[in-house]
Amino acid sequence: MDYKVKDLSLAEQGKKQIEWAEIHMPALMEIRKQFEKEKPLQGLRISAVLHVTKETAVLVKTLKIGGATVALAGSNPLSTQDDVAAALVEEGIRVFAWRGETEKDYYDNIKEILKYEPQIIMDDGGDLHAYVHENMPQLKLFGGTEETTTGVIRLKAMEEQGVLRYPVIAVNNAFTKYLFDNRIGTGQSTIDGILRATNILIAGKVAVVAGYGWVGRGIAQRLRGMGARVIVVEVSPLRALEAVMDGFDVMPMSKAAELGEIFITATGNINVIRKEHILKMKDGAILANSGHFNVEIDVKGLKEMAKSSRLIRPNLEEYELPNGKRIYLLAEGRLVNLAAAEGHPSEVMDLSFSNQALSVKYIYENRGKLENKVYNVPQEIDETVAKLKLKGMGIEIEPMTQEQIEYMKQWRYGT
Ligand code: NAI
Repeated sequence: MDYKVKDLSLAEQGKKQIEWAEIHMPALMEIRKQFEKEKPLQGLRISAVLHVTKETAVLVKTLKIGGATVALAGSNPLSTQDDVAAALVEEGIRVFAWRGETEKDYYDNIKEILKYEPQIIMDDGGDLHAYVHENMPQLKLFGGTEETTTGVIRLKAMEEQGVLRYPVIAVNNAFTKYLFDNRIGTGQSTIDGILRATNILIAGKVAVVAGYGWVGRGIAQRLRGMGARVIVVEVSPLRALEAVMDGFDVMPMSKAAELGEIFITATGNINVIRKEHILKMKDGAILANSGHFNVEIDVKGLKEMAKSSRLIRPNLEEYELPNGKRIYLLAEGRLVNLAAAEGHPSEVMDLSFSNQALSVKYIYENRGKLENKVYNVPQEIDETVAKLKLKGMGIEIEPMTQEQIEYMKQWRYGT
């Protein structure tokens, strides 16, 4: 079997990590049990670009148990957990990923996983979808899935331009995905990444969060919970208003730049923190990004301006500006929760990846019947995932009485 990972001797440690994740992913493990019995993916070839973490390992093992053969590449040059990658090779997954890939390695690995002529592809960020569209017109796909907001935006642009060649399920848009993964998972793991890289005290710091979407809300709320004074920067009047009413200070980056001590971008947009902002920042300001791509902070601009730079400790680089101030960049401006920590906790990925597993099954079962469009996760799947998760947590919910069911269908009852 083909593979390319850093060091196969790490497999034993990776196996333990995966087992640890499995204990915290009851919904996906329940799906695995069904897959084991029913083999709904029998004969299916899947290629996936996902962050190679212990949680992704639980997902790809489940797909394999369901009958699929899987090839896996990393979704970011810095997010692969090498021990997990090694353990997956031993599980019979074709893994092409290691931490510290160059951009060329990253695309070479995408090419490798496409050699197996997948019938379904799974992506996180849209690079795999874009690559297939630009370079592999001959590839016949039943469909694909997309894990994150940035990827969904790219796929919707393809759909609008009439170039999307296969149906895609936007896993990101499931209620049981964005509400928990983007908000709660990124909220916690972003702070985890910042702490592992810096070990600073959050309490009392002025933190600036750019973007008050699902990710930004989670980060802002958790920073506040730890005692930070949080400023939100937004371009949308609706989201800005929401942030104000949630009790945050809202202002443009040009003003926030002078006040902040920690800056975190979570917009999915480009050059949100630019040279002119960096020059206004206080000595010691810390810059981190949790958006999908490393384009939110103008790292190139920072490097061009800097008189000198040095690595203080892993994922913490110091840049000295001509004005004498020192600016600290975390994880090269790549998503800090994956590059400096371990990504989302397993409990959250349990929800996202249960949606992935059931969406792949849905595409396979409905092959040939779907249009070349971006579909939301069917509500039935979303609800199944919520039910499985609640069951795994041992939580019962209130059933409606027959009278209540009837009442909710009425329009005549009033005052
Ligand atoms: P979202 O669309 O809900 O929120 C983005 C927000 O940023 C919007 O409110 C938008 O108005 C705002 N925004 C856009 N340009 C801006 C600018 N120049 N300045 C300030 N605000 C601006 O998206 P969501 O779900 O919050 O995702 C944000 C990013 O995080 C995406 O790139 C997504 O792929 C990524 N993501 C990262 C995760 C991680 O593990 N680090 C997990 C989930 C998503």
